[in-house]
Amino acid sequence: MLGLATGSTPLSTYAALAKSIREDRIDVSRVKGFALDEYLGVPPHHPESYRSVITREVVEPLGLNPDHVFTPRGTGSGITRAGEEYEALIAEAGGVDIQILGIGSNGHVGFNEPGSSLASSTRIKALAEQTRKDNARFFNSPEEVPTHCITQGLGTILRARQLVLLAFGANKAQAVAAALEGPVSSTIPGSVIQQHARATVIIDEEAAAALA
Ligand code: F6R
Repeated sequence: MLGLATGSTPLSTYAALAKSIREDRIDVSRVKGFALDEYLGVPPHHPESYRSVITREVVEPLGLNPDHVFTPRGTGSGITRAGEEYEALIAEAGGVDIQILGIGSNGHVGFNEPGSSLASSTRIKALAEQTRKDNARFFNSPEEVPTHCITQGLGTILRARQLVLLAFGANKAQAVAAALEGPVSSTIPGSVIQQHARATVIIDEEAAAALA
């Protein structure tokens, strides 16, 4: 089972996976996918909902069965229960094998913003102003960027059997250095990957520039 990040960072990875599935005729009919997060209050059919993004960038190019790919529910009644429901779905499916992660310029992973509990589960969170600014490029105006999200927790992410953190570009350099070489702390949520026994980090030179 695959854990799926959205955002710009993993797009080249998803394109490479799609290519190798096509060329090597890999059977993906039983592959399941669980997205990390979703905007709160953005309907699934909205082009920038993470459900739509995952459909466009992952389900369609990789040829996955859409019924096997899940995103946290960001709308509908009983929304405060959506986190628990998602945790139950992940557990029923046997847990995430490989979790693909990006990192925010403020060190967030998933939408676990600075200050998130290291043991947290899927829940509703407010987006940091920095994250809303970073993600404004996907919307027509900054005001349209949602203020809240539902995200897998840091505890949820740590339960995946393997983590693969991707980071590209100079605007990730400080977050990468703090996450990999700083103390494990909720100030830099990405630092939790130091606590995982099987974590792989793939970064380019610009994102590596602030490492010691
Ligand atoms: C998205 C997610 C976020 C992004 C991060 C980096 O599902 O969980 O943590 O990975 O905001 O975003 P990009 O890749 O757009 O720089």
